[in-house]
Amino acid sequence: MQNIRNIAKNLYYVGCSDRRIELFENVYPVPNGVSYNSYLLDDDKTVLFDTVDKNAKTQFFENIDGVLNGKNLDYLVINHLEPDHSALIKDIIVKFPNVQIVCNQKIKVMLYQFFEFDFDIENNFKIVKEGDILNTGHHEFTFVMAPMVHWPEVMMTYDITEKILFSADAFGSFGAINGNLFDDETELDIDEYRRYYTNIVGKYGIQVNNLLNKTKTLEFKMICPLHGLILKENIEMLWDKYVLWANYQPELSSVMVAYASVYGSTQNAAEVLANNLAQLGVKNIKLYDVSKTHSSYILSDIFKYSHIVLASTTYNNGIFVNMEKLLLDVVNHNLQHRTVAIIENGSWMCRASEVIQEKLSKLKEIHYIDSNILIKSALKSNQSGELKLLATKIFEDLNR
Ligand code: FEO
Repeated sequence: MQNIRNIAKNLYYVGCSDRRIELFENVYPVPNGVSYNSYLLDDDKTVLFDTVDKNAKTQFFENIDGVLNGKNLDYLVINHLEPDHSALIKDIIVKFPNVQIVCNQKIKVMLYQFFEFDFDIENNFKIVKEGDILNTGHHEFTFVMAPMVHWPEVMMTYDITEKILFSADAFGSFGAINGNLFDDETELDIDEYRRYYTNIVGKYGIQVNNLLNKTKTLEFKMICPLHGLILKENIEMLWDKYVLWANYQPELSSVMVAYASVYGSTQNAAEVLANNLAQLGVKNIKLYDVSKTHSSYILSDIFKYSHIVLASTTYNNGIFVNMEKLLLDVVNHNLQHRTVAIIENGSWMCRASEVIQEKLSKLKEIHYIDSNILIKSALKSNQSGELKLLATKIFEDLNR
């Protein structure tokens, strides 16, 4: 049965949710699923904005048939060619052989990379550039190129008439749609918006900034992303978060501790440090065991917190494997402007601090608290002063 919703005059949500998926992009856990958003305008000309993942094919075509009700599809606007949105493009063309494919030149090239067509579609393309206009009868659309938000071909489509931005991956989130499609119908889970942003486009702060600067003078009544809720109430709040995230500025002045501990000694130090920090008055401290929590969650909080403590045992003459994975993620996502403290453990050869600093040396504006804690196998009672001193130095830095 069709599952559609009218979201503005003549505009329908025809997307689908997926709760069976375990790993988005085969890497990020999505315990609450994910939505693949697609939108269909029933103007003088009919326009479909992106498709959905192949797993949602049946529901998607029922939705399209429900809105079109026998009409032809005139335009398919492709904003992003990643397969979670493009998988059904060929099926759309087969079903509507005369559909005009509205996209930029990079999208056209990638379309031929992803699909083999045993029929000629060259005459189907309507290639657009930044600022071009598409008139569909009662609506006028323009196009904003958004390279690397999240792939190089990405563009966004702006409905000049209704002030609606079809924002591709930007302003999206993990999480399936639970009936409530708009952000004024349910609470927006900012932690999942942050985890989505940091892991998907966190690396591309410069490009996100370019996009924000290009579009900040536009009026937005609604933002329709390719994942997550349709935004009306939270546009300004989320925009401000994007400015912080794109500039790698923390949201919260507090401490996040990520520890890698094999037999509990390094965890012990992390817990005692957090206790000391709390007694000094630091609020909202967060601790993560890097072997327990997926790095996508920890990375997300690293983008949130101003001060990061990395506590790790030495392992194979390097650093513990799950801490190494986290550090790789942090470096790959281009973190900047953070203060870092280190706790290291080693029973015979201690290299954790050296490895952490070597890996983070690729990042800009990383400052260290100069009171590393060295644990030889297990914390000794005479080291409590060292942990108190580190906590005090972090506290003082927080309150500078
Ligand atoms: Fe949701 Fe970059 O695809």
